[in-house]
Amino acid sequence: MTKAVKSYNVCVFDSGLGGLSVARELRQQAPDISITYCADNAGFPYGNLSPDELIERTSKVVGGLIAREQIDAVVIACNTASTVVMGALRERFSLPFVGVVPAVKPAAEMTRTGTISILATPGTIKRDYTQNLIEQFASECHVTPVACGNLAHLCEVHLSGQLVEQADIILEIAPAFVEHEGNRTDTVVLGCTHYPLVLEMLERASPWPVWFVNPSAAVVRRLLDVLDYEGPVKEAINSTNRACLTDSKGLDPALSAVFLREGFQNLTILSL
Ligand code: DGL
Repeated sequence: MTKAVKSYNVCVFDSGLGGLSVARELRQQAPDISITYCADNAGFPYGNLSPDELIERTSKVVGGLIAREQIDAVVIACNTASTVVMGALRERFSLPFVGVVPAVKPAAEMTRTGTISILATPGTIKRDYTQNLIEQFASECHVTPVACGNLAHLCEVHLSGQLVEQADIILEIAPAFVEHEGNRTDTVVLGCTHYPLVLEMLERASPWPVWFVNPSAAVVRRLLDVLDYEGPVKEAINSTNRACLTDSKGLDPALSAVFLREGFQNLTILSL
């Protein structure tokens, strides 16, 4: 007897385009899972919002979405939100939530020089959650946390096809490259889901080669574990990929083209 195959619909949530780094990986590891991408672009950037504002926004948007759609799990593909909202979301909604937080532990395991840096939004950098990760997993390392005030925005600009000056990227990431007691930074945590989307630009703007740590693959493995996903089925189920935004400014042709390119044919506004 053939086993009944469950088809999943997973919401990948971010303030903007950053969650696409997780969505790409999800498609890679589980091509038969449908993705509902949700960008709270009305609230972008999340990097400057307070914890209370983040809890309010994410609850409202995720709540609005799951009231309309059958969603099996939500990935909060945003470090800035995940470092504060997961408890509140799990309390309010009964479906599984998976978050993305700075990959400090893998970075501490990878470094050869004991000198690592974290690139993230100002919100993520100042969170106790991030501080605790450093104390728990990288107490033996020299850690440089770098608050990037504009990098997520530059990523959005680049992805929508406009020119981003290399000098602007350098300005954001230069403080991550340090020399401490003769040891140079060799490992840099990408602590915002936007950053892996411009990896080549980051590599070009680096004064020396480093390992950039992208947590997407580990996040997706965690999600598939939570779902008890058993691998793409032989008789592949067709997945459907939809995207929704909270502000119609995202419906301009350049941004619609980004979603189309990423495999999201259907782009709508989630009215709350
Ligand atoms: N992509 C989000 C993150 O991982 C944040 C971008 C923003 O809204 O500032 O932190």
